[in-house]
Amino acid sequence: MNKSPNFSIPKSVKIVEVGPRDGLQNEATPISASDKIALIEKLSDAGITYIESGSFVSPKWVPQMATSTEVFEKLNRKDNVTYAALTPNMRGFEGALAVSADEVAIFGAASESFSQKNINCSIEESLERFAPIMTAAKEANVKVRGYVSCVLGCPYEGEISPEQVAKVAEKLYQMGCYEISLGDTIGVGTPANVTQMIQAVSARVPTDKLAVHFHDTYGQALTNIYAALQMGIKVVDSAIAGLGGCPYAKGASGNVATEDVVYMLNGLGVETGIDFKQLLAAGWFISEKIGKAPVSKVSSAYLANKNS
Ligand code: HMG
Ligand code: MG
Repeated sequence: MNKSPNFSIPKSVKIVEVGPRDGLQNEATPISASDKIALIEKLSDAGITYIESGSFVSPKWVPQMATSTEVFEKLNRKDNVTYAALTPNMRGFEGALAVSADEVAIFGAASESFSQKNINCSIEESLERFAPIMTAAKEANVKVRGYVSCVLGCPYEGEISPEQVAKVAEKLYQMGCYEISLGDTIGVGTPANVTQMIQAVSARVPTDKLAVHFHDTYGQALTNIYAALQMGIKVVDSAIAGLGGCPYAKGASGNVATEDVVYMLNGLGVETGIDFKQLLAAGWFISEKIGKAPVSKVSSAYLANKNS
């Protein structure tokens, strides 16, 4: 039975777990490939069916992701789980294809300055770099997810208009991305501008092709997700233990914690297919490896109860 009093909320939500990529990419403590693999396997054991497991970017830019080839090569995969990789250019795509990543993601931005800082090119140039990836992916029968960063604000430019987000999202969708993930990279949004932004994007890209990707820098992510659910969004990106952040968005904290999102969805009676206890254990595992407490109030509360 759906316990939710608001019937406009979806009955089920797909969690896209980005902790092993977005989370770990910004952690200074080097995590070994075998620990990353153990994390990914614990996440899939908990019932997560989509795991962004690494990225094929310059190791000089993002050292923590340098082991992505090894991670993909040695991973014990489950048939019902998608193991995805972030790929900024053809070289990255070839790297991901060589290790049989199930899907890839290209990442653009709604802000020119962020595009330059993150991938060293303009928005227009980034789309040109993505074009051959789309062609090669089609040939290889690999699905491509598209990210738009800075959808609710940019660390360098400040406010970003919903129309600008919609334009970039539409371009990625027209290029063939099956889903567009809308990233509040620096976690500044509130439900008001989340609603405006999703309205603008939905005018150009069908709502059922959209996902939300909220960092929790200002503590607004859960409420922003709730606003997005009310608008019909059914795919939510999150990172176990609230890990990480973007190395090219100063001050950006980690993604909203998967534990917090699943706790909220459980409370709303929204199905995720995730075993909550196993999810918590996966978060404690990686937090211990990093040497930091989970950035998740839910996880901390359960840990305190467990240890009391
Ligand atoms: P560039 O300097 O324009 O490219 O970088 P380049 O072709 O001139 O190459 C520069 C160096 O990188 C060369 O090495 C290349 O060989 C190497 P060098 O000669 O200096 O030794 N290189 C590569 N190495 C490995 N794999 C590759 C690759 N391509 C070139 N695929 C590039 C362009 C995109 C490569 C660079 O800017 C880069 O790697 N940036 C990192 C971007 C990144 O990973 N950012 C974090 C992820 S995005 C994010 O977190 C946001 C998101 O979560 C959504 C949200 O929150 O909003 C998705
Ligand atoms: Mg992110």
